[in-house]
Amino acid sequence: MSDNNSFKNKLQEYCRRVDKALDQWLPQPDGPEGLLQQAMRYTVIGGGGKRVRPVLVYAAGEALNVPLDQLDSLACAVEIIHAYSLIHDDLPAMDDDDLRRGRPTCHKAYDEATAILAGDALQALAFDIMARDTTMQCSDKTRIEMIHLLATASGSIGMAGGQAIDLAAVGKQLTLEELENMHRLKTGALIRASVLLGAMCNETATADTLTKLDTYAHCVGLAFQIQDDILDVVADTETLGKPQGSDSEQNKPTYPSLLGLDGARERAQSCHQQAIQALDIFDESADTLRQLSAYIVEREH
Ligand code: IPE
Ligand code: IPE
Ligand code: MG
Ligand code: MG
Ligand code: MG
Repeated sequence: MSDNNSFKNKLQEYCRRVDKALDQWLPQPDGPEGLLQQAMRYTVIGGGGKRVRPVLVYAAGEALNVPLDQLDSLACAVEIIHAYSLIHDDLPAMDDDDLRRGRPTCHKAYDEATAILAGDALQALAFDIMARDTTMQCSDKTRIEMIHLLATASGSIGMAGGQAIDLAAVGKQLTLEELENMHRLKTGALIRASVLLGAMCNETATADTLTKLDTYAHCVGLAFQIQDDILDVVADTETLGKPQGSDSEQNKPTYPSLLGLDGARERAQSCHQQAIQALDIFDESADTLRQLSAYIVEREH
């Protein structure tokens, strides 16, 4: 089987795995809070999400020989935080977008208040899952460190902080350094957490191994948002499943707006190369991570 086919199969396997686990963890709509629970399910399940963050959890675990069942709840937790961040990102007070994963955004399919609450409840659910999962065998200390890591990655010095910088930067020109910092927080932090959570499941992993994976995660996290910015310019709405041109319409500072399309592409490629270099201490057990880095900068949606 070609490398490309085996990577595709692996992606499918990991996506199927996390989809099944998500379905089990999300509450079944019931009672007076049923509408809220429907909105949570609507956003997380059934749309065209790529599941990149859960796949990174599994691939980092794979690099360190962690059994897949130890990674399911962590994969769910990162995807659920991501889904919450998308609901809030699309709200009228933020990017005001109507289309997400090829369907109406949560506040369009439901209403604004329900969408806000669905985001709130999803964020809480992610941590509930990490605290409650009985399959995960790691020590309580490691579990608390994992919860701490995801909380930090989601909060004011992680995703939410990056989103705040993004909104404050509308209509302004940022320096490359400021732009990179914004991307590192709004998107990079959760991607970094995904890789590290998978790795932390192997409690014997050395500090050097974790540092290398951290460098890898930092680079693919940045590359991911650069490619997202590029696609906002070059792709079409149908392929993207979200409105093309949303960034320029709102005067967002992006990599293409600062460096031009070619400059942005070069920057994404150099992040990819650095990510691959960081994995040089690993054998073929890290091939899925390597292929994911390529996929992140080559993807078309
Ligand atoms: C979109 O993320 C939001 C960003 C952080 C750039 P994805 O491109 O991973 O969105 P889905 O999950 O595939 O819909
Ligand atoms: C969003 O960045 C980052 C998040 C934390 C959700 P964007 O606003 O560029 O994401 P899209 O393009 O709407 O998916
Ligand atoms: Mg945004
Ligand atoms: Mg947006
Ligand atoms: Mg975008």
